[in-house]
Amino acid sequence: MRKPFVAGNWKMHGSRDANARLVQGLRTAMTAPLASHCDVAVCPPFVYLADVAVQLQGTPVALGAQDTCAEPGPGARTGEVSASMLLDVGCRYVLVGHSERRQFHGEDDGLVARKLSAALAVGLTPILCVGESLQERDAGLTHHVIARQVDAVLDAAGVAAVGRSVLAYEPVWAIGTGRTASPEQAQEVHGFIRGRIAARDGNIAGSVRLLYGGSVKASNARELFAMPDVDGGLVGGASLNAEEFVAIVAAAARK
Ligand code: PGA
Repeated sequence: MRKPFVAGNWKMHGSRDANARLVQGLRTAMTAPLASHCDVAVCPPFVYLADVAVQLQGTPVALGAQDTCAEPGPGARTGEVSASMLLDVGCRYVLVGHSERRQFHGEDDGLVARKLSAALAVGLTPILCVGESLQERDAGLTHHVIARQVDAVLDAAGVAAVGRSVLAYEPVWAIGTGRTASPEQAQEVHGFIRGRIAARDGNIAGSVRLLYGGSVKASNARELFAMPDVDGGLVGGASLNAEEFVAIVAAAARK
């Protein structure tokens, strides 16, 4: 059985005060039985990681980062943060290849694969994000794009590395738009991703967790997580509200 997993991506939101309030809300609402049925993580901006690590102590919520440098470091990489630094401040997870990194920072499949390997090398669990744009979906290229993104990592890092990661399918057209993929659309692509991995290793394909991301809310989480290949969610906007986020975790825990 794949244990459900819900990760909150805070993106470039928050402040010391707002984060403290949010974590306090999580501390109150995230009951032990809930957490025993669902793994939970939050991914604040780099500058707040060390603070939030302290605030999360004694809660079942793990810490993740939103990105990592692909180079192991230490070294001359001004502005970058290495995977070992993330581990050092208490991270357990790190997002790699989020569509906003691909779109606004020119990250290509090769770089994403190197980031995934850098994370694994220090013992972090990468959350590899893939997803097509609206233009690509409308052109009938969804499978083509997803296959390219997944295969790039399978080829460069190997299927065992993918097996030690979490994958997140996030259609770009559903991120922050309020427009969610239907449960059937999500399932269709999740099934495709699992098949792609199964072509290399059936056991790994059966055990790797595939999250859905893109306008997940408390009101639609349950039907999305009911799909057989949707093992939880990567949640942006709704992770900034403790009550809403915990309701999404509760929906996953019921899976
Ligand atoms: P959203 O973002 O839930 O605000 O759509 C998801 C993500 O980008 O991870």
